[in-house]
Amino acid sequence: MKFKKIVVGNWKMNPGSLKEAEKTFLAITKGLEKVKGVAVVICPPAPFIYALHKLSGSRKIKLGAQDVFWERSGSYTGEVSASQLKEVGAKFVIINHSERRALGETDSGANKKVSALLREEITPVVCIGEARRDKEGLFLSYIENQIKTIFEGVSAAMIRNVVIAYEPVWAIGGTESMKPTEIYEMTILIRKILSSLYNNKIGAEATIIYGGSVNAENIEEIMREGNVQGVLPGRASQEPEPLAKIIGAVASTHR
Ligand code: PGA
Repeated sequence: MKFKKIVVGNWKMNPGSLKEAEKTFLAITKGLEKVKGVAVVICPPAPFIYALHKLSGSRKIKLGAQDVFWERSGSYTGEVSASQLKEVGAKFVIINHSERRALGETDSGANKKVSALLREEITPVVCIGEARRDKEGLFLSYIENQIKTIFEGVSAAMIRNVVIAYEPVWAIGGTESMKPTEIYEMTILIRKILSSLYNNKIGAEATIIYGGSVNAENIEEIMREGNVQGVLPGRASQEPEPLAKIIGAVASTHR
């Protein structure tokens, strides 16, 4: 397992200015001084990555991006490559986020993005999750197909460098997270799928985090009962205070 504990903050298309981004980022890094044993990643809007990377200096905090394109270079107007993101300091990239899927991202596109990132030694934070639940349990095979398609061609040696973010789409941007016991069940399912695709060791050791309305109030319960190595907060990562509570709760969870 590459990351024993990890928090990935998705700032989405916020804040509006670089000045605000720098202020929030510095406040977050200050709060990290006493934190141990948890990797902290902030994924700001792409134009802010470089400036925040410069500010991060030797601090523990890492920068990430919210998307990438799979080609290395060429006539792809509006796209950004993995090596370009690496060059400006991104060590992680979120892919297949439901808000990107709503704009056309697909599992097969995500598959190409995983390979492009691994080639550049950037950690892909791969979002998976069902849009809705049905009584028949068809969402379970949906998750299985997502994992199979997105990781097709990714070797056992490389899959160790991936973070899987289980994010039920219906829980993102809402007021309530998924129940921690249900998160637990989903981690077991994901580990089973990875075990059958690769082997039991990979299934057992994969880094799985949860995202979807994580906040300062529900984080302790999620970490206590959810069987995850961390979380991917969106809105709650955009303010230093709730994020500090989230990081603190992840850091003090015994795993
Ligand atoms: P949220 O976003 O925490 O605001 O629900 C989660 C995400 O961006 O995946």
